[in-house]
Amino acid sequence: MEQTQLENEIRQAVEGVEHPAFKRSLGDLGMYDRLEQDGEDVLRVFLKTPKQDRKQEIDIEAKVRGALQPLQLPGKVKIRFELDESLAPEETGNRIRGIKNIVAIGSGKGGVGKSTVTANLAAALKLRGHAVGVIDADIYGPSLGKLFGFNGRVALKGDGKNRIDPLDVNGIKLVSFSFMLNPDQAVVWRGPMLGKAVEQFLFQVNWGELDYLLIDLPPGTGDVQLSLAQLIDLDGAIIVTTPQNVALQDAGRAAHMFLEVKVPILGVIENMSLFVCPNCGHESHVFSKNGGQSLASRFKMPLLGEIPLLGDIMESGEEGEPIVLRERGGPVAQAFLAIADKLPTEIDKYR
Ligand SMILES: Nc1ncnc2c1ncn2[C@@H]1O[C@H](COP(=O)(O)OP(=O)(O)O)[C@@H](O)[C@H]1O
Ligand SMILES: [Mg+2]
Repeated sequence: MEQTQLENEIRQAVEGVEHPAFKRSLGDLGMYDRLEQDGEDVLRVFLKTPKQDRKQEIDIEAKVRGALQPLQLPGKVKIRFELDESLAPEETGNRIRGIKNIVAIGSGKGGVGKSTVTANLAAALKLRGHAVGVIDADIYGPSLGKLFGFNGRVALKGDGKNRIDPLDVNGIKLVSFSFMLNPDQAVVWRGPMLGKAVEQFLFQVNWGELDYLLIDLPPGTGDVQLSLAQLIDLDGAIIVTTPQNVALQDAGRAAHMFLEVKVPILGVIENMSLFVCPNCGHESHVFSKNGGQSLASRFKMPLLGEIPLLGDIMESGEEGEPIVLRERGGPVAQAFLAIADKLPTEIDKYR
């Protein structure tokens, strides 16, 4: 067998092995280093390890040998571990290297403007000079692509190492389930597949250095929320609701769920709070008044902001440019910038 082909096969087999402690593949953890051939009949596989732990190494070695078995390699295989502290996943815990804050955006119901809020909050954070990424994890109705001007399929570039580059929209990094679908295609994902898909969005995307990674969750309290909470340490969740009672009840359930899985709730954003007549300027509370505030009080969490009901918010979404970017000086941008400015303090409360 040719050397490079052999090396590729070995690399692939080794990288697929799951680390016994971190429950992620050696490839994900970046532990495969190189292969050296020693004379005719000795192959040395070099693995980088963040920490010298003999017991773990024995465990990994056994697994690696198991994975190499089907290749029927000629001669002897030796597995060597070399310390590389820069890999240190235990230091970062259940975090993603390079990402400072991960915030999930949830709601009790669909249609309350969760995605619109996510897109505009991402835009506001970007305007404040932060490096921002967004995961559209709403598998049932992924719409962030569209909100940023990408309707339907988008081919993301791979880097040849099992990872993809996110889409870069004016400096905001984005991945969405919608990139894999035709515009009218429905998705049917089941529990375990969902967990896997979310995991890939977290760990197999080249996010680089980010100040904020926002995650637009599906509405309600399902599998995606749970697998997310198990996969990483979320720095917090934001609950989006509209002011009327029915929405608030569902939002309350969503809040309960986050508390149960030990995700701190950073606050509530009330969307479609108030309708300002574009002709006469008259303000009316279309749904009802102070719903967001009462939800916030009930859970002892802050009301981060109130976003008015405005045709322009909807239209700019339809046209693929969040209103915060389109009308930077406008009242909606002001509201989102104010929310963006509150985030660090709210996150710090739980650190
Ligand atoms: N503040 C708002 N004013 C006017 N329309 C809004 C506002 N927020 C959201 N919308 C519109 O409501 C609809 C649902 O919003 P969306 O963000 O997709 O909700 P969700 O993600 O919660 O399902 C979209 O058509 C969106 O443009
Ligand atoms: Mg949505």
